[in-house]
Amino acid sequence: MGGEGVVVIGKLNHVAIAVPDLEAATARYRDLLGADVSAPQDLPEHGVSVVFVTLDNTKIELLHPLGRNSPVAGFLVRNPDGGVHHLCFEVSDLKEATEKMIRTGARVLGDGSAKTGAHGLPVIFLHPKDFDGTLIELEEVAGD
Ligand code: CO
Repeated sequence: MGGEGVVVIGKLNHVAIAVPDLEAATARYRDLLGADVSAPQDLPEHGVSVVFVTLDNTKIELLHPLGRNSPVAGFLVRNPDGGVHHLCFEVSDLKEATEKMIRTGARVLGDGSAKTGAHGLPVIFLHPKDFDGTLIELEEVAGD
């Protein structure tokens, strides 16, 4: 592990899509696309209500703002039809990945320390301006 040039990311864990109407979005994935969708879950500590869409190879998370300081609310003001909010890649060692990001000049949002993500696992977010306008989440998962 470690070293320059070593691959940091593994699987695409999920694509998060901010949606203006969670019920309507869920119905589209369930009824039009025939996907396996979860019941909506409120995650107050993340400021979102979320529906998980489980696919064979990854997940889609439909995000809707919850509460006053939701990180998704501003996104929906700028993108009233909704849109891709972030991509989440799996890493086996988040501390190492974070250090590499900082060393190579990518900005880690917040104070640079890992937070607990929507799946109860440690995550960081990388600044969209450093990744072609796309917010990137790195989530530490147990190696598989
Ligand atoms: Co996410």
